[in-house]
Amino acid sequence: MAITYMKIDIITIFPAMFKGPLTESLISRASEKEILKINITDIRFFSKDKNKKVDDKPFGGGVGMVMKPEPLYDAIKSTGARKKNGAYKNPYLKPYVIYMSPQGKTLNNKIVKDLAKFKHLVIVCGHYEGIDERIMNYIDEEVSIGDYVLTGGEIPAMVLIDSVARMLPGVVKEEESVKNDSFYNGLLDYPHYTRPVIFKNHRVPEILLSGDHNKISDWRKKEAYKRTKKRRPDLLSD
Ligand code: ADE
Repeated sequence: MAITYMKIDIITIFPAMFKGPLTESLISRASEKEILKINITDIRFFSKDKNKKVDDKPFGGGVGMVMKPEPLYDAIKSTGARKKNGAYKNPYLKPYVIYMSPQGKTLNNKIVKDLAKFKHLVIVCGHYEGIDERIMNYIDEEVSIGDYVLTGGEIPAMVLIDSVARMLPGVVKEEESVKNDSFYNGLLDYPHYTRPVIFKNHRVPEILLSGDHNKISDWRKKEAYKRTKKRRPDLLSD
């Protein structure tokens, strides 16, 4: 039988960090509707150390600690993921292992749309100075959420999960709204208004009250283009 949902495995040393974001809002709706199944694995569970240690000093010296390879490898393997570049007839059926790290490709809407095609994502959250480089043999893609450094990969993983979940059919109520979002068509979003018609002396653009849907659609396209040209001309140049 074809798999109808997406599975996301999160590999972390801080499982409790995911409680709020995964039990509220869109993500919880996606889980309730069985569009998304999220499973959290605590790396410490795989530590053979009596104190459940998962890090160690770096070879060659230097500051900070490095995440040890064995518990991470066992945690990744427990999700069903295998070495990267595995042979899959349908590449989207491969458990796709992502490592959240500032060294990765910067997340954008194209990457989000591509990731939304997979049936099983495995997201590895790093900590300390990073993970033992030999674990990269099991990572399909390294993803960053921007040119700044966070204390760990958990918040970046939440950003990634939220953005991917929105792309799954049935998660956002009106699918149209995803298609009109900023970046979906390579443009920023157009301005939105709701009642009242006049707020603190500022009036809603007359065209939106006209009831002429073609004109409204043209106006929105123009506004999206104008906004993109002014704020993010880089989006128009490629
Ligand atoms: N871990 C720490 N900083 C990060 C970033 N900018 N993106 C992804 N993972 C990270």
